[in-house]
Amino acid sequence: MTETIPVPSDIAKNAHIDAETYQRMYKASVEDTEAFWRKEGERIDWITPYTRVKNTSFQSPNVYIRWYEDGTLNASANCIDRHLATRGDQTAIIWEPDAPTDEAKHITYRELHEKVCRFANVLKELGIGRGDRVVIYLPMIPEAAYAMLACARIGAVHSVVFAGFSPDSLANRINDCDAKLVITSDGAPRGGRTTNLKDNTNSALLHCKESVKCLVVRRTGQQVAWNAGQDYWLDALEATVDADCPPEEMGAEDPLFILYTSGSTGRPKGVVHTTGGYMVYAAMTHKLTFDYKDGEIYWCTADVGWVTGHTYIVYGPLANGAISLMFEGVPTYPDAGRFWAVCEKHKVATFYTAPTAIRALMGKGDEPVKAHDLSSLRILGTVGEPINPEAWRWYDEVVGAKRCPIVDTWWQTETGGHLITPLPGATPTKPGSATTPFFGIKPAVLDANTGEVLEGATEGVLVIADSWPGQMRTVWGDHQRFVETYFQHYKGYYFTGDGCRRDEDGYYWITGRVDDVLNVSGHRMGTAEIESTLVAHPAVSEAAVVGYPHDIKGQGIYCYVTLMSDKEPSEALRKELSDWVRSEIGPIAKPDLIQWAPGLPKTRSGKIMRRILRKIAEDDFGALGDTSTLADPAVVDDLIENRQNRK
Ligand code: WTA
Repeated sequence: MTETIPVPSDIAKNAHIDAETYQRMYKASVEDTEAFWRKEGERIDWITPYTRVKNTSFQSPNVYIRWYEDGTLNASANCIDRHLATRGDQTAIIWEPDAPTDEAKHITYRELHEKVCRFANVLKELGIGRGDRVVIYLPMIPEAAYAMLACARIGAVHSVVFAGFSPDSLANRINDCDAKLVITSDGAPRGGRTTNLKDNTNSALLHCKESVKCLVVRRTGQQVAWNAGQDYWLDALEATVDADCPPEEMGAEDPLFILYTSGSTGRPKGVVHTTGGYMVYAAMTHKLTFDYKDGEIYWCTADVGWVTGHTYIVYGPLANGAISLMFEGVPTYPDAGRFWAVCEKHKVATFYTAPTAIRALMGKGDEPVKAHDLSSLRILGTVGEPINPEAWRWYDEVVGAKRCPIVDTWWQTETGGHLITPLPGATPTKPGSATTPFFGIKPAVLDANTGEVLEGATEGVLVIADSWPGQMRTVWGDHQRFVETYFQHYKGYYFTGDGCRRDEDGYYWITGRVDDVLNVSGHRMGTAEIESTLVAHPAVSEAAVVGYPHDIKGQGIYCYVTLMSDKEPSEALRKELSDWVRSEIGPIAKPDLIQWAPGLPKTRSGKIMRRILRKIAEDDFGALGDTSTLADPAVVDDLIENRQNRK
């Protein structure tokens, strides 16, 4: 029996949702989904109210997802303008810079309005209008939020690219969505070091159309290589434009943003989210999952380059008129107490982070936590990967002093917001379980092979049986890929790519990806992407990449590499390959272990047996299973003999 942690009574008493309300509302939400979402849609201000609520089909090949389709609205007006009368002078964004000695900024809703309006007018000056794509490649500075909201204001579609991605990855994304403009900064300070983002952007733009313009935010004031006629300083243009910009009236199903994410095959795909349903879902989940109360300081430590930053730093909190903290730095700079110092300094009530950060900080002991007054904390959250019970307990006991409910939120770039998560005032928690579905969400567990629906306590693949407003609508430019990736494995269901267990209380325990997607420090990475990068190196003939358990990162990247016949393995070459992947994709994709593989285990039809490679990488080769179908069983002995991960 795993332990169950009851809801603290003071939290339950004042929560937006208590246990009884959850039961009643959940039941209603799945029994009459349409009526439920008709009401919930009112969380958002509409210009033209919707009359139609849900128009969706999961039946491949005819998959379509439309919510509130005849309504019109503007996302930025929902995040800004509608708060001006009631909370114009309240802080919207607190910005905490990388260096603790630099001054934090407090940006009020009124200031946010002016910043976003000016930014939007600058975009217009640069020829950006409705439907145009804009790539945002910025560090964690307020301008990243301004840029997103400015795009939303004029109906342009933003695509934020994590500033840790390489020039190559940036170029691929600019080209895939055919962006007219890229927004970057001169430099990006992080953990006491500064990346020259403008240089990266310049390198990327060498591989893009010459007409792509570049708007540069001044962050560090460092020297940058400038391309006259193509580059523009934001501050210079801002001074010349109007301080007001009326929001465009957008259709509920007009795209709000594209966000690239890795899948099991091919290049990252552009996940498309639209305006109406996404905003309803972002606002509702932010408010209820974190039991957000007016005036509280809310901090999500994600980067705006990931979906968590979109929904839970920008759109959800700001739609709710919240105070959203944005942090430029890293958890361990200048020391391992930084997160807690920031919580104390700004009196953070809700703290939302990733298991990998919790594990890394747990490794530094309790002292850095205990050195700070964390009495302002009320709710703790985690996201991005399964959290091991040990890290959960440390978070609960040391950080939350056993007073703060932990919400372990399971969701994906594709889902737009939380799908399975505790609600602080309603759901007793179990360390390591994402617990129960959010309103309107119908999870099901299927047998991976037969697709049969499994009932009761069971284990299998996790699918969702019906649509919700925050769901992605398509893959940018490739609806067929959308249908194939998510709706063809199991007919009539959205396939999540995750495995899960459901226990006797109906609680869900996510067991991790069942496809060839890795989750490294909460970042999604396709093994196929890393493999194709490795084989693009002149010394490499073949490569196979798998994950293996890693104490801090959750999963580490394990690469099997077969060299060209005229190349000799060496430590220098190992480092070269590792640096190669790092520079081609970005630091998050740097291999942890590289094993020289004279041959890879293949079936007689030439298919690589990844199951065997995974076992060897896990140092669990006693359980290799049947190897008799291999073309050359002897390669396995060599791989075991030379394995890199020895426990
Ligand atoms: C994993 C991040 C267990 C899962 C929001 C999913 C989780 C993938 C959890 C999506 C959680 C996310 N418990 N696993 N609470 N949250 N995951 O698109 O494998 O970057 O499919 O979205 O992360 O990653 P993505």
